[in-house]
Amino acid sequence: MIKVGEFYAPGKIIFGPGSLNQIGLEAKRLGNKVLVVLGKGSIRKSGILDRLTHLLKENELEYTIYENIPSDPTVETIDKGTILTKKEKCNLVIAMGGGSVLDAGKAISAMVTNEGSVADYQEIEGKGKKFQHKTIPFIAIPTTSGTGSEATKNSVITNTELGLKKSIRDPWLIPEVTLVDPELTLSLPPHITAICGGDALTQCIEPYLGKKIQEITDVLALHAIELIGKSLVRAVKEGNNLEARKDMAMAALLSGLCLSNSGLGAAHALSHPLGVHYKIPHGLSCAALLPYVMEFNLPVVTKKLAKIAQALGEDISLLSETEAAQRAVEKIKEIFSQAGIKENLSEWGIKEEDFSQLAKEAKGGSLNNNPRETSEADLIELLYKTTGLH
Ligand SMILES: [Fe+2]
Repeated sequence: MIKVGEFYAPGKIIFGPGSLNQIGLEAKRLGNKVLVVLGKGSIRKSGILDRLTHLLKENELEYTIYENIPSDPTVETIDKGTILTKKEKCNLVIAMGGGSVLDAGKAISAMVTNEGSVADYQEIEGKGKKFQHKTIPFIAIPTTSGTGSEATKNSVITNTELGLKKSIRDPWLIPEVTLVDPELTLSLPPHITAICGGDALTQCIEPYLGKKIQEITDVLALHAIELIGKSLVRAVKEGNNLEARKDMAMAALLSGLCLSNSGLGAAHALSHPLGVHYKIPHGLSCAALLPYVMEFNLPVVTKKLAKIAQALGEDISLLSETEAAQRAVEKIKEIFSQAGIKENLSEWGIKEEDFSQLAKEAKGGSLNNNPRETSEADLIELLYKTTGLH
């Protein structure tokens, strides 16, 4: 049966080295007073902030800076930013940074036009109000190549009061403009480059194998997988290689489009509780889980895994479909190892007695999209393998 698909994307995507120079004109088109949302200082120290504010001033735009967004933005981070935006009468938000900064900017742009606290809109069982009004315009400028937040309709917010990390989600949250300038990623350290790439690859493979797959994301995912296979290791080892940085920035953007429209799978489902309880960086847990999740899914998505092996540059002409699928798993382990990502999560002190609780907390949206039905026992088995305790 031919399925009906729906595909959302940012209103405009500006992509390419040096594209930051266009920010002034883009911003002028959308507002006249900007809230600039930033992380903990690297944009300021590197001089990129000066470049951004110069471009805004050149176009007669006023701005207010809201910085020090933590790596896990909280309800308080968003509510404070919303109050500031209203007080300063900003009518446009520009967020520049990693996924958390973009998520914060996105959430603030929504809360300016919607009542109450962002906590009221989080996807918490039995709660979670729907947004009633469109956000004020929001421009996303990623400075890492990983989360894909620059293209997604959700924003992950930590609710410290309830001890939960939950999304707000609505097509209105998709950035009006996404500006991806790979030059902004040139100074990313190797380890961050590697784990962001691990996240991006997982965000291409899980939607590609998942139940909500559709033709558009199919094409995007395979192309992004090819780019990551070609360029992740180079971007890690030669940080100044603009071609490799360009490939990774494009792959991350495409991964955002894929996950936002076709969902994720078991690797992301387990990554979330691992992040909450053990503070494992998201990309690292995704990378560690991905090969085992692919192996687990192999019996139901053999053909697709064989295509992934091909996209990663493997010659599968003499292999059976199952062998080719297995090759995809091996190739990904090889890429991650060359990128310096540890094979498993053994050093994070994950306790066997927590497995059952972690598995319970993994249930929900991402897990429902996994191509193979996944029981609690299956999730526990995946945790044994990923933690090296087996
Ligand atoms: Fe992710």
